[in-house]
Amino acid sequence: MIDLITEVTTKRLVLGITGGVAAYKAAELTRLLVKSGIEVQVVMTEAARHFVGPATFQALSGKPVLTDLWDSGNGMAHIDVTRNADVVLIAPASADFIAKLAHGAADDLLSTLCLARSCPLLVAPAMNLEMWNNPATQRNILQLKRDGATLLGPASGSQACGETGMGRMVEPQALVEDIDAFWQPKRLQGKRVLITAGPTFEAIDAVRGITNLSSGKMGYAIARAAIEAGAAVTLISGPTCLTPPVAAKTLAVTSAQQMLEAVYKNVADADIFISVAAVADYYVLNPSEQKIKKDAHIFTLELAPNPDIVANVVSLPNPPFCVGFAAESENLYEFAEAKRKRKKLPLLAANLVQDAIGSDASELILFDDGGAHPLQRAPKIELARQLIEHIAKLQHKGKGDNPK
Ligand code: PMT
Repeated sequence: MIDLITEVTTKRLVLGITGGVAAYKAAELTRLLVKSGIEVQVVMTEAARHFVGPATFQALSGKPVLTDLWDSGNGMAHIDVTRNADVVLIAPASADFIAKLAHGAADDLLSTLCLARSCPLLVAPAMNLEMWNNPATQRNILQLKRDGATLLGPASGSQACGETGMGRMVEPQALVEDIDAFWQPKRLQGKRVLITAGPTFEAIDAVRGITNLSSGKMGYAIARAAIEAGAAVTLISGPTCLTPPVAAKTLAVTSAQQMLEAVYKNVADADIFISVAAVADYYVLNPSEQKIKKDAHIFTLELAPNPDIVANVVSLPNPPFCVGFAAESENLYEFAEAKRKRKKLPLLAANLVQDAIGSDASELILFDDGGAHPLQRAPKIELARQLIEHIAKLQHKGKGDNPK
């Protein structure tokens, strides 16, 4: 039985575009927002229209673009536009428009509707790095934050002026993800979550080793979902090719022993421990520092068992709420529930190796004292959000303790 129901309602977003060369990126942003099912009403300042024409945004959003206070015909556009909006996003937000917002100026449609709105305001700055670093801009940014606006960026990188540094608008795809994250319920507000992810690598010699298959995608998705839910996240990661979430404190490790040490150093502060890593069960006794030369003889490795990290954490005197994972190639229900019992875990998430390893989407079954809760096939970030929701529910019901 699936007991997790995600409410699906169409979100309404007002996209304010101000004058800057990054206005061209707002076209892609509009396309991606509409594609993700969000209703977008574009509002452009006069300066923005010097960079890109409204016809582009009308075609992409499927709605006429609003440009001045008298667009709606009733003189109330500044009130009407945000009346049913869930959020106003200014992207790109120029230094000049940020100054207007900070001072409550209202001399065109976009600045007036920002002042008249009651929904949240998201601001994606885009400007030259000197303008961004100017104390006046930094004062205005601070004021916006104090007033409750959420800043998305800016990013650092090469700029249209030829310089390199802070001030680039966050890329459209990342902005869509930020907006998605902004809307997630803050179920773990104030909680500290420790996560292990990826494989471990146990050296044989200077170039060879034994490892497990794991891309890190599931663990990194859970880190992202926990951050979205308001948690402070520490991510201990084995070797992966992924970029960790900016808001996570990330510690890179290689071997199971290093992962265990990093977990021990951070576990005392954690409320929740989620052990997603595919930890190698054995390490090589006496690995060679030099590359072993190949010859025709049979080569024997002596292996010793690695410590079981999650089992060690569960048996601490005052453990955090522990969540284990199990990747099985057969008998998923039977093996996973047996593993949960053996490791004394209140919650375990199980997946099939052939479905889950390296993929962007998979199925997951959650096992707890209430039974099995299958989650339908979904992108890993969606599964991660449902797992976080399940953890929050168990904690809320007072079932957040590890079995004794
Ligand atoms: O990284 P991806 O490509 O996205 O793939 C995700 C995944 C399939 C690796 C992930 O979803 C997953 O299932 N991870 C657990 C892998 C596994 O099979 O673990 P296990 O059965 O060896 O261990 C069970 C539990 O004990 C896990 O929580 C594991 O982190 C933990 N463990 C295991 C061994 C050990 N020495 N220390 C541990 O803490």
